[in-house]
Amino acid sequence: MMFTSCANADQVTKNGIDQDEVLSKLSLEDKAHFVIGVGMKGFSGDDAVIGATQSLVPGAAGTTYPLDSLGIPAVVLADGPAGLRIDATREGDSATYYCTHFPIGTLLASTWNTKLIDEVGLAIGEEVKEYGADVLLAPAINIMRNPLCGRNFEYYSEDPVVAGKTAAAYITGVQKNGVGTSIKHFAANNQETNRMNTDAHISQRALREIYLKGFEIAIKEAKPWTVMTSYNYINGVYTSESKDLVTTILRDEWGYEGTVMTDWFGGKDGARQMWAGNDMLQPGKNEQFDSIVAGVRSGKLAEADLDLCVKRTLNLVEKSPRFQGYQYSNKPNLEAHAAVTRQSAAEGMVLMKNEAFPAPSKGGKKPLPFKESVKNVALYGCTSYDFIAGGTGSGNVNHAYVVSLLDGLKNGGYTVSDELKTAYEQYIADAKEAQKKALEELAMKDRQAATLASFMPGTLPAEKQFTPDELAAQADAADVAIITIGRISGEFLDRKVADFNLNDSEKQLIQQVCDVYHKAGKQVVVLLNIGGVIETASWKDLPDAILCAWQAGQEGGNSVVDVLSGKQSPSGKFTMTWPIKFSDAYSSKNFPIDEDPRIDMLNQGQKGDVKNVDYTDYEEDIYVGYRYFDSFDVPVSYPFGYGLSYTTFDYSNASCSADGDAITVTVTVRNTGNHEGKEVVELYVSAPDNKAANKPAKELKAYAKTKQLKAGESETLTLTVNAADLASFDEAASAWVVAEGEYQFLVAASSQDIKATLAANVKAQQTKAHDVMKPQVQMNLLRR
Ligand code: BGC
Repeated sequence: MMFTSCANADQVTKNGIDQDEVLSKLSLEDKAHFVIGVGMKGFSGDDAVIGATQSLVPGAAGTTYPLDSLGIPAVVLADGPAGLRIDATREGDSATYYCTHFPIGTLLASTWNTKLIDEVGLAIGEEVKEYGADVLLAPAINIMRNPLCGRNFEYYSEDPVVAGKTAAAYITGVQKNGVGTSIKHFAANNQETNRMNTDAHISQRALREIYLKGFEIAIKEAKPWTVMTSYNYINGVYTSESKDLVTTILRDEWGYEGTVMTDWFGGKDGARQMWAGNDMLQPGKNEQFDSIVAGVRSGKLAEADLDLCVKRTLNLVEKSPRFQGYQYSNKPNLEAHAAVTRQSAAEGMVLMKNEAFPAPSKGGKKPLPFKESVKNVALYGCTSYDFIAGGTGSGNVNHAYVVSLLDGLKNGGYTVSDELKTAYEQYIADAKEAQKKALEELAMKDRQAATLASFMPGTLPAEKQFTPDELAAQADAADVAIITIGRISGEFLDRKVADFNLNDSEKQLIQQVCDVYHKAGKQVVVLLNIGGVIETASWKDLPDAILCAWQAGQEGGNSVVDVLSGKQSPSGKFTMTWPIKFSDAYSSKNFPIDEDPRIDMLNQGQKGDVKNVDYTDYEEDIYVGYRYFDSFDVPVSYPFGYGLSYTTFDYSNASCSADGDAITVTVTVRNTGNHEGKEVVELYVSAPDNKAANKPAKELKAYAKTKQLKAGESETLTLTVNAADLASFDEAASAWVVAEGEYQFLVAASSQDIKATLAANVKAQQTKAHDVMKPQVQMNLLRR
């Protein structure tokens, strides 16, 4: 069968490169080489063209294929998103090439501060440019469909508006440097288990409203140079082979003009990928080359379609610093960026609890920020001494250092118990040694399993325990205790339910430290150094304060201490719901639980029919995160949008006005406490008759953050929603439809803390879309 061609060479703009001339000089084989990368040693096939370009920037993920005789250089593609990922050292070179490890995506999104995220992007982009890379393979904006997805740390939110706006700010910042980004993974890479072969079964409506919406917002707003398709299938078709996704929706409907590339080794049929409009196959393998050449020769793939992919890849090369002859310095401003990461990390931390102990009637005060009298800190939890900067896999960064909480406290002028420090350092060293030995033993028995394990996030040691007497003596010597709970996750592997829950050693540590310190009249703070949601309901009553520090990059310990000490007031809010139990999230019915991480390899690329492994039914439909919990009244541990401050805010004068298609809400926020702080204001919309119409009880449509407000200071924020943003996707009509009627506009501090309810009448409207990407199976979709 021949793929129906849609190529229209006029769609491709000409700039510095005379594309027609280049094309006229390329043989079919040259073209096929050009649209796939230069291969990867050991993975691309025996005679793949593994060129010298991989040493352009060692440790980068890949490059495009150079056409030297035509003056077309290879451009360098490197990961992202928490910073640039390249090798820190090079053979025979005494210089170092460390990059700044910025906070994980989840933390950045938790700032709800697009200006700050733009600044972080600007700093990351400077490292990309000065280290000689051209495109950063970031941001990663898949929806946090379930708390256990192993890559949630890279992602932004369960809500597409937060994900889209955060990504737009990040892309804008990076690209201000004249380098590119690659928004990924387009789309629905919501589980790591069998990620290269799993089929996401999603209704057209959920796909449009939830899984594509964030991409649509970011792509229209910030125009990333490239889009990276995901590994998975959606409704039976690999995303990189889906013309419906990559051409019809992305280009025809959204007007995207950039280049599309695969995720590394994603998809199968090279000719089909070209036909779909997936311009570049990275890092390329022999079979893709063969498939493209054979496709054109047999007439299955129109050469004009291949030419279009070549042209769009040329467009990318043309914009790159390398083509423009930029002389990079290999000396980005790492010192300035350390300050950027330190400050941005502090802003995305979420204060979950801060309660007086003893009770205020007995003279008790809130534990945070630390009072002047707090000098000696007793530090518990292995992670306090071995802080986690970010997740593992391609989202990791080769950083020069990580400031632990121990070092952060010392830098902040606090004294930390030496006795505890010595005990923990020994304990951690022993645990690491044992882990190393176990890996060596595994390698002797099963080399493949050992190689795989070395890519995966390691396990953290069980928490060290102390006798009541030891704890009592430590409490006696300290002004306050901090317990850090750590979690590490990463690419290739979804988290386990046991990783969501606290283990016995963690629960016991929290219980005993709280008992003994409270008996001694001292307070306890729990710090979460994590990349994804954990269980909190069973233990959150025990400590006096809980701060979610996320994985805060290389300055993590300093950032935490900036918050603990009150130098920076916490103003982060959650961009996802924290369920009471893992099983409370509706998607947990349809998510791989504790599967064998080697499933991809065991399947050898063949698609089987195991539920949640080979396919996953997105039966929660549009009811993801708070759209589910708030619509079905399911209690949560912490709602979406939640976060405390050291101060308090009052909302007043909320009003709403409609001007043509735009609905504008204004609200005045006043700092009513006695500490400086910023407040995030969230605007949700409730559609008329939403239950009968099977729409969520509320959906976030806009948000804004105040500046730093001094005690007593006010600011009036303006939030705008366009009528078109209120549309739902109507599958029967294949259209975005806004129902006529009175909509409620909820001005809120979290999805469950509504400060004012306004109303506006909105007229009906309908925008046609293409009837594509239909599920091929019947699903039992959740309805209100
Ligand atoms: C990841 C991508 C990454 C690519 C290149 C893949 O395994 O899924 O996010 O950009 O590798 O390193």
